[in-house]
Amino acid sequence: MRASIIPFTFAMVIMPATMVSVLPIGGLLVRSGSLSSQDFVTVIILSVGVITPIITLMSYSDDIRTMGTIVNEVRSVLDAPEMERPAEGEAPKDCSIRLNDVHFSYKDKEVLHGITMDIPAGSYTALVGPSGSGKSTIARLIASLWDADSGSVTLGGTDIRKIPQEIYSDQIAFVSQDNYLFNMSVRENIRLGKPSASDEEVEKAARESGCHDFIMSLENGYDTMVGSSGGHLSGGERQRISIARAMLKAAPVVILDEATAYTDPENEAVIQRSVSKLTQGKTLIVIAHRLSTITGANKIYVIKDGQVEDSGTHEELLEHHGLYETMWNLHMEVKDNG
Ligand SMILES: Nc1ncnc2c1ncn2[C@@H]1O[C@H](COP(=O)(O)OP(=O)(O)O)[C@@H](O)[C@H]1O
Ligand SMILES: [Mg+2]
Repeated sequence: MRASIIPFTFAMVIMPATMVSVLPIGGLLVRSGSLSSQDFVTVIILSVGVITPIITLMSYSDDIRTMGTIVNEVRSVLDAPEMERPAEGEAPKDCSIRLNDVHFSYKDKEVLHGITMDIPAGSYTALVGPSGSGKSTIARLIASLWDADSGSVTLGGTDIRKIPQEIYSDQIAFVSQDNYLFNMSVRENIRLGKPSASDEEVEKAARESGCHDFIMSLENGYDTMVGSSGGHLSGGERQRISIARAMLKAAPVVILDEATAYTDPENEAVIQRSVSKLTQGKTLIVIAHRLSTITGANKIYVIKDGQVEDSGTHEELLEHHGLYETMWNLHMEVKDNG
């Protein structure tokens, strides 16, 4: 838009104003006798007629620029380095996760500066910290969406770069912060978690994630189209559908990145209860928005500026009188006032 707006505006202003020059100059030429009055009429008609095609041409130049932008975007995807994963390999022995001195940068900016974390199989781990501290980045590395620059992420003791993508994906259900719905029906969006699931299974997962009631109140129930990127639904509704999708997948590792941030406290409690029921015995990693929802975690990691600032249970962290205590006190204040 920036590239085409200035020439386009100029053209739109000047072209319809051709009469401003054609009429007086033509009039002068006719008076001086170098232009016949018949020719003058022709010139007037032509100058009016020529505007529309030129404007159409201008609008194509806009389209061509749009196409150029899209082509460049597609090219940046095609040119991106491919993740290296073996085609075959064994499934990991268990679902313990370990991050070993992980450094990671987006382009040139390093955002994780040596993260080490131990997440035993079947445990409940929470990540908390200020916004921008790198929590989502850690979740994306564990979900194998990006690879660490240095250090390693292991699952069941095996470096995740040695585990075939397909096997790895089966182990992990990831509800990301920017959850994405496809422009299909609610039912099919949930079914993405497990393509072989029956309609009953889909509805069961929806019920357990606190979606069933709002889905039934939609125009066509489970067959309602969610619109492009889920635009017909609210943020909280999209999140709950993403949770239902993850629950249906029933993977042994579940990562929830601020999965209930847009949900009202009432629904949050419902979701929290069903999530903890559904994830019993699984490795659960929760990035929490509201601290009160994660006090029961086996271990809480406090992340600050891409580093682990502190870790421990809720009680231990409060005793450390550090960042966690400050965040907790702020959270309680907000809660009391709200
Ligand atoms: N896709 C991205 N490209 C470039 N920088 C990013 C991207 N995602 C996050 N960042 C940057 O990385 C840092 C950590 O972000 P993030 O992991 O999302 O933090 P948190 O989830 O704790 O709020 C921030 O400074 C953010 O601006
Ligand atoms: Mg985040």
